[in-house]
Amino acid sequence: MRFVVTAGPTREFLDPVRFLSNPSSGKMGFAVAEEAAKSGHEVFLVAGPVNLKTPKGVKRIDVTSARDMLKAVKGVLDRDSVLVGVAAVADFRPKVKAARKLHKGEMPETIELVRNPDILASVKCRHKVGFAAETDRVLESAAGKCRRKRLGMIVANDVTRPGAGFGTDTNLASFVFPDGNVERLPIMSKRRLARKIVERISKWF
Ligand code: CTP
Repeated sequence: MRFVVTAGPTREFLDPVRFLSNPSSGKMGFAVAEEAAKSGHEVFLVAGPVNLKTPKGVKRIDVTSARDMLKAVKGVLDRDSVLVGVAAVADFRPKVKAARKLHKGEMPETIELVRNPDILASVKCRHKVGFAAETDRVLESAAGKCRRKRLGMIVANDVTRPGAGFGTDTNLASFVFPDGNVERLPIMSKRRLARKIVERISKWF
């Protein structure tokens, strides 16, 4: 099976030296790619700017912005692929990117933003799995996202809990399904969670 995994943050530049982004380390996405490759799948890892080594057996495509990420995903995804969206994609980008550095006096007081494409929602393939990093009403909003984006499953975590979220080596997550079923998992390493996700996806074939 071909797995396409998105990982890490995206950067949305305002000028050549300034961008909007988030603290995603890419660890969870890289772990999913590594475990999928270990299980014998063909794996494409579409990675935002992160400081991580490419896992063995994984084909990596580096990207910067959400629009680059969507283009790279479309380039490798086919009808039979599984797409696992682990990336923390920036939902918005500055409407205008200046061609040169904006000096203090030129900086606008407000920055106009426009929506980025939703990568998971805008492609079709055999199975799609999402991630949801939430700070409140975690399970309810995850189930809604699962249905809206036509996902087979969403891995939801409350990033306010100790040991969960950005930059940590562990995660505290639940698998949420479109019918509202929830499987709560104990706190575990991102590697072990990645193995469980790949095992769960493998059951669909
Ligand atoms: N995602 C994506 N493209 C985007 C935004 C999100 O592919 N532009 C994917 C993420 O990789 C993740 C899932 O969608 O797998 C959920 O991301 P999240 O930002 O929580 O979803 P949103 O739909 O943006 O939710 P919200 O309305 O809460 O911002």
